[in-house]
Amino acid sequence: ARHLLGIEHLAPEEIRAVLDLAETYVELNQRTVKHSDALEGMTQINMFFENSTRTQASFELAGKRLGADVMNMSVAHSSVKKGETLIDTALTLNAMHPDLLVVRHPASGAVDLLAQKVNCAVLNAGDGRHEHPTQALLDALTIRRAKGRIQRLTVAICGDIAHSRVARSNLILLGKMENRIRLIGPPTLMPSGVQDLGCEVYEDMREGLKDCDVVMMLRLQKERMDGGFIPSEREYYHRYGLDAEKLAMAKDDAIVMHPGPMNRGVEIDGELADDINRSVIQDQVEMGVAVRMACMDLLARNLRAERGARAVGVM
Ligand code: CP
Repeated sequence: ARHLLGIEHLAPEEIRAVLDLAETYVELNQRTVKHSDALEGMTQINMFFENSTRTQASFELAGKRLGADVMNMSVAHSSVKKGETLIDTALTLNAMHPDLLVVRHPASGAVDLLAQKVNCAVLNAGDGRHEHPTQALLDALTIRRAKGRIQRLTVAICGDIAHSRVARSNLILLGKMENRIRLIGPPTLMPSGVQDLGCEVYEDMREGLKDCDVVMMLRLQKERMDGGFIPSEREYYHRYGLDAEKLAMAKDDAIVMHPGPMNRGVEIDGELADDINRSVIQDQVEMGVAVRMACMDLLARNLRAERGARAVGVM
């Protein structure tokens, strides 16, 4: 494929190929000299129209460790502030011949639209409440390393499912890999048509966590609630905040995940988040760099093959 727009477009063997290649980058990233020439001579532009710490930093590091020339477009200081549209901005950057464009945008579908207008590889770094594919891939790698497999696990995804692109991408990936998925949260934070997603749905967190292998917590996405349901944080923590007492319902070796940024004392107890015997939250961050290196490496190989074929007149 030319782009990475969503997990919905990936086959299970493609997901495994990303995870296997990412393993080699986990090893490289633990060395003192972290350098590969997989993207040597290529140009990567990061365009983030929404705030980010983990995704932007890890895409930048990933590109630099692979030898690319990496440019972070500063949206706050760009002509977007003068009214230039997303597509005109993308076409302008496209004329500078980037090879990889990493895009985060608040509108669902915006990254797909942009990908149709440019002739480089586009990676979706999160679009609205639609998809966040590299997050689901890094979560899968974290789970596989902790549990030894990424199939036949019972995974609870808890909290604000309705507004979460992380939940959506994880749901698709974990479903493709034949896991049992439980969605836990108040009905007001469940997406419409949740009964048709093929998951078990729980309003009671303790009941939903019973015998789970993986507990994935989500942030309350207040910025996407359109002035609608915003629960009292105290009441929410009481019912849906993960603490040691609620976690005791899951398997003894269940792991705790959170994509970040997390709100301690709202969806997760701070001490539990820092407990390295249960929490793999920092591992998720580490896997993020390796997975993004693997994704960009694979897309760069496809891009070279496509350009090579075009040069000899095959396409
Ligand atoms: N998980 C995640 O996407 O974090 P950032 O918003 O900090 O990139």
